[in-house]
Amino acid sequence: MALIALGVTGGIGAYKAVEIARGLQNNGHEVIAIMTRSATQFVGPLTFEAITRREVITDQWKAGANADIEHISIASTIDLLLVAPATANTVGKFANGLADDFLSSLFVATKAPVLIAPAMNTNMFEHPAVVKNLETLMARGVHVVDPGSGYLACGWIGKGRLAEPEAVVAAAEQLLRIKALALGAPKPAGEGGTMAGRRVMVTAGPTYEDLDPVRFVGNRSSGRMGYALAAEAIRRGATVTLVSGPTHLAAPHGVDLIAVRSAADMHTAVMARAAEQDAVIMAAAVADYTPANPAGQKVKKGEGDLTITLQRTKDILGDLGRLPSRAQRLPVLVGFAAETQDVVAYATGKLEKKAVDLVVANDVSRAGMGFDVDLNAVTIVSADGVEDVPLQSKSAVAARVLDRLEQLLIAVPSRASAAKA
Ligand code: CTP
Repeated sequence: MALIALGVTGGIGAYKAVEIARGLQNNGHEVIAIMTRSATQFVGPLTFEAITRREVITDQWKAGANADIEHISIASTIDLLLVAPATANTVGKFANGLADDFLSSLFVATKAPVLIAPAMNTNMFEHPAVVKNLETLMARGVHVVDPGSGYLACGWIGKGRLAEPEAVVAAAEQLLRIKALALGAPKPAGEGGTMAGRRVMVTAGPTYEDLDPVRFVGNRSSGRMGYALAAEAIRRGATVTLVSGPTHLAAPHGVDLIAVRSAADMHTAVMARAAEQDAVIMAAAVADYTPANPAGQKVKKGEGDLTITLQRTKDILGDLGRLPSRAQRLPVLVGFAAETQDVVAYATGKLEKKAVDLVVANDVSRAGMGFDVDLNAVTIVSADGVEDVPLQSKSAVAARVLDRLEQLLIAVPSRASAAKA
């Protein structure tokens, strides 16, 4: 399995790193523990030595350790650098490329993926310098496991506690799987897939807003994009709930299909299940308006024109964005935007307005893509930037969207593991 360098820095959560080391070993990985000087104030190096059965690195200048320039040789052999807990000081050093001890030198020297689990007092975590440093690291591809909220060692209640060891181990596993896939490893499907243990809800298709028992207001969405996303999430091992408006498509094997008709039905179905989900992907073309007074009986024609009053539907994505659990980024939210002009500008606006993590924007004015066809070209917009996905099958587009979603999920503990803990 993998060789993982586990950096332990000087925070009260250092004792939890012992459990993280054990969790990684239980999954079959080799762990090299690297402790900063302040970490040794919290936990003795012997503890890590006993657990990892390897010498623990505590000093860059130990005689005998430099024959092969140890930080360089480790940097080039590890599959992952995991730092838990990562203090404000370490985050600052990493962000600025300082290399004044073994761990910070290793960070600068390695090309392996890096995962950090910050832990510190709430005020420190929220300090603009720390926020900026974390943003800088994330922009450079460092993955971050968000700290949890609760009682902190300093007596405060707030955000800053080191994420639970299982969540850190799960994030490390996911990163290793993604790395293996990038290196061309055969794509594991089902239980061994990159989304195993994740619960994902996908909405798809149009909604039908009834005018009377035989007529409705609908739209041209075929549901293909949402169904492709559900199928790809199943293939990656996720547990998938597909909330679908009326379509002619067969549900992908293995999804839990919830068939709905109107925007109101979809709202009820989604909100009732949102608390169990790690991610919700709103690919459905939900009606923004519904007839204000649908008739109970078929409306008979009269002599003159007919005016129908439409009223706004509830914004499902908006309501998901306001869930209290969103403070922990749960569920991760993916919205869709069908635009006919200024695609990126509108999508960026939606990202902020609806407090979602990813917006997948279609330019539905272009022929041969978007609604009711097999091909699509999209622009994926997130806080990390804008990614153009050129014209390809909706399945291939779905894979690109899920790649981005998986990267966001690394920072979010799975609901299933939280429920077990
Ligand atoms: N959506 C929703 N509930 C609604 C309407 C839309 O959850 N009642 C979701 C869609 O599934 C999609 C996203 O919101 O993921 C689309 O955002 P929205 O701002 O409604 O897009 P448009 O309808 O394209 O916006 P506008 O009318 O502002 O162009």
